[in-house]
Amino acid sequence: MSSSFTVRSGAGYDKLMGRWSRILALPFIDFAGVTDGERILDVGCGTGSLTFALPRAAEVSEVAAIDYSPVFVEEAQSRNTDPRITISQGDAAAIPFPDGRFDRALALLVLHFVPEADRAVAEMRRVVRSGGVVAAAVWDHLGGMSNMRMVLDTLAAQDEEARRVRGRYCFQPMMRPDEMRQTFLAQGLVDVQQTSLLVRMEYENFADFWEPIAAGEGPLGQFVAGLDGARRGWADNAVRAAYEAGQPDGPRSFAAVAWACRGVVPERT
Ligand SMILES: C[S@@+](CC[C@H](N)C(=O)[O-])C[C@H]1O[C@@H](n2cnc3c(N)ncnc32)[C@H](O)[C@@H]1O
Repeated sequence: MSSSFTVRSGAGYDKLMGRWSRILALPFIDFAGVTDGERILDVGCGTGSLTFALPRAAEVSEVAAIDYSPVFVEEAQSRNTDPRITISQGDAAAIPFPDGRFDRALALLVLHFVPEADRAVAEMRRVVRSGGVVAAAVWDHLGGMSNMRMVLDTLAAQDEEARRVRGRYCFQPMMRPDEMRQTFLAQGLVDVQQTSLLVRMEYENFADFWEPIAAGEGPLGQFVAGLDGARRGWADNAVRAAYEAGQPDGPRSFAAVAWACRGVVPERT
């Protein structure tokens, strides 16, 4: 298996995550260090949050974006108006480009869905020239994703299956402290740096937060959508109470932290 990501629709993804990954793309690009004239590979482009931000950040000569999901490839292609951008289907664990083809390979919120994430990092290194950069970011689900932890902690208090979902969610690949840095080093990248990127996820009200999850988007949404009548009713009410936290429904802001890592491809021997 090359991906544990489940796709429903581009619009649903955007409501759950794309609107936040578009914001996260900006500090991630600053960290990855994109400059004019470069050829960039966007691995796991989804609906294009990073893909379309790259040519706005620098006068890049090319962005090649790949994604495992044909649904997202089609969605991103339909949004593309920039001739420098190409979007195609491809697997992070077997990237369909030759050695040294790019100046940078970037993966935003992808490696935690790749069961063999170390192979994906090795592939990103392979397709980047010597002196080029590999960079990736994944959410810190355990310590840095306050909104989803609120949901999972609320449900886990009552439900053994929710406790198992929480365990899987918090320890997806690359989420443990120093895991991504160690993986970059093990794959032979040099000058490896790791940091935390913080954005805020701002919701208008409980419905704005809960609708994509209730509709089954994302790993947590899959669990919630599968709950039977009584458990589902309880979940809806309990999560609403946690969101409202004793105040009338309305806007809420949640901090979200991503681990980010970058490394340089050494001279090939
Ligand atoms: C959370 S989304 C992130 C999408 C986009 N980069 C963003 O930041 O909005 C994860 C993406 O990784 C893609 N993905 C998961 N496993 C993959 C693999 N093995 N190869 C390529 N893409 C993969 C999924 O299809 C999905 O589009």
